Amino acid sequence: MSEQVKKPIKITETILRDAHQSLIATRMPTEFMLPILEKMDQVGYHSVECWGGATFDASLRFLKEDPWDRLRKIRDGFKNTKLQMLFRGQNILGYRPYADDVVEYFVQKSISNGIDIIRIFDCLNDLRNLQAAVDATNKFKVQEGRGHAQIALSYTLGDAYTLEYWTDMAKKIEEMGADSICIKDMAGLLVPYKATELITAMKSATKLPIQLHTHYTSGVASMTYLKAVEAGVDVIDTAMSPFALGTSQPATEVMVETFKGTEYDTGFDQNLLAEIADYFRPYRDECLANGLLNPKVMGVDIKTLLYQVPGGMLSNMVSQLKEQNAEDKYYDVLKEIPQVRKDLGEPPLVTPSSQIVGTQAVFNVLMGERYKMATKETKAVLRGEYGQTVKPMSQEVIDKVIPGEERITCRYADLLDNELDKLEGEMKEWKQQDEDVLSYALFPQVATDFFKYRQAQQEKVDMTQADTKNGAYPV
Ligand code: CO
Repeated sequence: MSEQVKKPIKITETILRDAHQSLIATRMPTEFMLPILEKMDQVGYHSVECWGGATFDASLRFLKEDPWDRLRKIRDGFKNTKLQMLFRGQNILGYRPYADDVVEYFVQKSISNGIDIIRIFDCLNDLRNLQAAVDATNKFKVQEGRGHAQIALSYTLGDAYTLEYWTDMAKKIEEMGADSICIKDMAGLLVPYKATELITAMKSATKLPIQLHTHYTSGVASMTYLKAVEAGVDVIDTAMSPFALGTSQPATEVMVETFKGTEYDTGFDQNLLAEIADYFRPYRDECLANGLLNPKVMGVDIKTLLYQVPGGMLSNMVSQLKEQNAEDKYYDVLKEIPQVRKDLGEPPLVTPSSQIVGTQAVFNVLMGERYKMATKETKAVLRGEYGQTVKPMSQEVIDKVIPGEERITCRYADLLDNELDKLEGEMKEWKQQDEDVLSYALFPQVATDFFKYRQAQQEKVDMTQADTKNGAYPV
């Protein structure tokens, strides 16, 4: 009998980040996570994604937790497993582009507080918006003895997104000094046989490990993983079953069982996984009972495949139309989306480009005339502030929306002065740790409210007297 060549598929567990971000608006508190970390640490995961994305915002805003404290506690719980975070390129975890000194400092502090793998993406796949974060990761990797720069390409469909586009990007990413590549399919648009083509092509274009991240939204995700693994993908992202499927990832236990006894066998212990699932299941039931988990997000949203737009974008659109009493315009807006996307250079539709294109499409339909009104963000995209798009933007639309204005062709952050000192000056009265300036940089108002709350807690203010809604804590 010939010995089978083993190529165990590696797994990134998302239950501490993307899974609860996708299903319960990122509301899982740190105290609930801590008791299960020791068991999770024994599984043998490639990594556990536990930070970044919306976790930072939700911790400060809704959970009244210090996100840095969460990271340190999770780090303490995982002795053997790598920790992973999601990072929005030059926007870090916030909603505006930051100067390079803030990007570098954030990367430094993420690594020194416990992050191993930083997954960095840009909504336009403009690699210039990722370079500062990659360079910083490589710099502190040497200093801290920990760190891995992964560049994530936002997956999308369209004329410009050929196999050649993706393989070209893979080569460029290798040249940039990244350690691995992720294909980040937010909307679940990558179907199984296309995954075979894509992964085969990318594996032949680069030596870097390739990770696939997708969501179950359109119902094909586990089949897509199967085909991607057969085509040679190195790592897949999954979530423990109580927080899997729907708008989240395929279930960890199911993928593990699928590859059992094959050359891709993970070797994970199903009994151990079952104990971990038992821990999370009552919390899922609690979230269903209190409404935090809406059964609607657990099903298959086939419109995602039909219109090739993320599910979240459609629900935003519906609520915008509802506000204007114009729900009958739904299909007109759906038809307008591809047009606006084309006008803006055919960007991938992920945060924030999905909201920008969706909102502009709603405006175009409601006003009865294209670009009669343009949002602030549409103007910024047209000026080139978000970066370069894969196709040229419509000259006609540029002339109509920003007539005579100068457009940017350089990397936008090159125009920004260092801002760390200024930010330190603004928040120094609240500072209790170095990292506080970074919380403030990302969410100035929310972080200040949190700092006030933290101080009130420390000074044992009677919380019944506090006006939590307005962030007032009488000392
Ligand atoms: Co995701």
